[in-house]
Amino acid sequence: MCGIVGYVGREGCVEVLMDGLAHLEYRGYDSAGLALQKNGAIEQIRKVGPLASLTKEVAERNGHLSSLRAGIGHTRWATHGKPSEANAHPHLGGGSRVAVVHNGIVENFSELKEGLEERGRVFRSETDTEVIAHLLEERVEAGEGLREAVASTLQRLEGSFAIATVCADDPDVIVAARKQSPLVVGLGEGENFLASALQALLDRTRKFLFVENGEIAVVTPDGVDLFDAAGNSVERELFEVDWDAEAIELGGFEDYMEKEIHEQPVALRATLADHLDADGNVSLGLSLDLSEVDRVVVAACGTAYHAGILGKSVIERLARVPVEVAVASEYRYSEPVGDENTLVVAISQSGETIDTLAAIEAAREFGGKVVALTNTRGSLVTREADEVLLTKAGPEIGVASTKAFTTQIAVMNLLALELAKSKGTLSEDETRSLGRSLRRAPEKVEETLELLSGAGNPIEEAARIFEDARCALYLGRGEAYPIALEGSLKLKEISYIPAEGYPAGEMKHGPIALVDEFCPVVAVLGEGLIREKTLSNVDQTAARGANVISVAHSDDKEAKRISRVVLPVPEADKLTAPIVATVPLQLLAYRVAKDRGLNADKPRNLAKSVTVE
Ligand code: G6P
Repeated sequence: MCGIVGYVGREGCVEVLMDGLAHLEYRGYDSAGLALQKNGAIEQIRKVGPLASLTKEVAERNGHLSSLRAGIGHTRWATHGKPSEANAHPHLGGGSRVAVVHNGIVENFSELKEGLEERGRVFRSETDTEVIAHLLEERVEAGEGLREAVASTLQRLEGSFAIATVCADDPDVIVAARKQSPLVVGLGEGENFLASALQALLDRTRKFLFVENGEIAVVTPDGVDLFDAAGNSVERELFEVDWDAEAIELGGFEDYMEKEIHEQPVALRATLADHLDADGNVSLGLSLDLSEVDRVVVAACGTAYHAGILGKSVIERLARVPVEVAVASEYRYSEPVGDENTLVVAISQSGETIDTLAAIEAAREFGGKVVALTNTRGSLVTREADEVLLTKAGPEIGVASTKAFTTQIAVMNLLALELAKSKGTLSEDETRSLGRSLRRAPEKVEETLELLSGAGNPIEEAARIFEDARCALYLGRGEAYPIALEGSLKLKEISYIPAEGYPAGEMKHGPIALVDEFCPVVAVLGEGLIREKTLSNVDQTAARGANVISVAHSDDKEAKRISRVVLPVPEADKLTAPIVATVPLQLLAYRVAKDRGLNADKPRNLAKSVTVE
């Protein structure tokens, strides 16, 4: 998660870039920087910390920069290398002739870096991005124009990226490209723009071209040319924004639910930023002594309950502390067992759900320590709890919870890491390494959204299977099981199709009787042994005529063999995989509801916050 901008045209380039970055700061604020074309050279300005530091620096140099007409800018969310000036973008090649900004991850950067170092290139940062700058500069030094250099460099990069680059020898030209990560071009008169999101440019233009996966854009003051990976020129229809105020609020999406699904990378980044630094150090800032905790109880309702079930697996796996997960409306009337060493985690997006509040009261009676995990600062649950953990999903308007769920999972992961640290079940190094992986969750979700909107539109294809569906079965094992539960809840909430989430292995003990061609089976395959076992369970449903839809890696041959449709997800580590696997199921439920002509934001009979028993 980073934001990139570019401008080429008239004097005042710096102002345009800084305004654009201000709109993109939500994508990261570990550092920010600019690379400007100036008298046949490149001027690089970078500052650590929020954009305000760069703004101050730019203001101090203003007279000196105001005549410049082309440049690129970046606001960083650190993944490779800590937030520092050396790691801030833009990055320059060794000869400072080429500058690049990048959003995404170059997965094969170590191997590329080794090769570059053997060829005498000296690295100045710890980032994956710097390899792109050196590779580009090598090609430019070999006599290639910037576009050719970008094309040949792209062929060597694995991973996801949107890049923008300028070259000192090519004034008034920006070359940009993308794979998975987002990129739009804004069109003006005698000036043109680019950015990670069109919202960054709405003050300047309402005309846009979307750069598609694998394409290269050459942006000059007089026009924009698009090329595919083979170098062929590509035509693109203009996208003109004519949104009214509500539509601007919806940011071009049809409904809040769709918007909120797409906001998940941002919501995750904001949530993680509060508690996880770029080195992977976790700090929840709790004043409770977690080393004293010998039991955890999670009480929650609806979607939040599913986040609790997943939290149980992660806490038990990493911290070896037993966890009970309770539906809050049951817990309050049970005779709960616990003492002062029981940590009670009340999860509630709204912080107002009456049963969750009552569960806290029940836990208080045995002296349990209560942590509220909520999206709503100042809500009732925060007042009842000893400590508060906030998700930073932002307002969730759609009744069916989406971004609140994935951010709840992220915080439960952080809590598991913090507990593991306190209980000594993981070393500092192990915790940090898991923390660093978790920091990649926003990028991974961004990649997932891209994959799902890509070739063949798998979500639409899967939704068609539901046209004649009478019911649906969602299957998963281990940490894929709560994701199956949540997927089935999304479907029934907004499409009104009866859906059951079930542990894949238990399916033989009842639900398999439902299976026929009108009961689609949605399989969340997961990883390793769990994947193998789930595959064989799902195979049993396929043999009985089920139309299977799998959430699986795009190159999973077995998944393809047993499925009518594969909803592709990228490779992700164990903490991130459940977050990633949630996204296709949200989109699937949304599409099915829309295809049935239903209001996804306001499903019948439901309410966003349930304040009655
Ligand atoms: C309602 C909402 C669900 C939500 C549940 C719990 O049923 O429709 O989306 O998961 O309440 O709400 P809470 O605000 O406590 O997370």
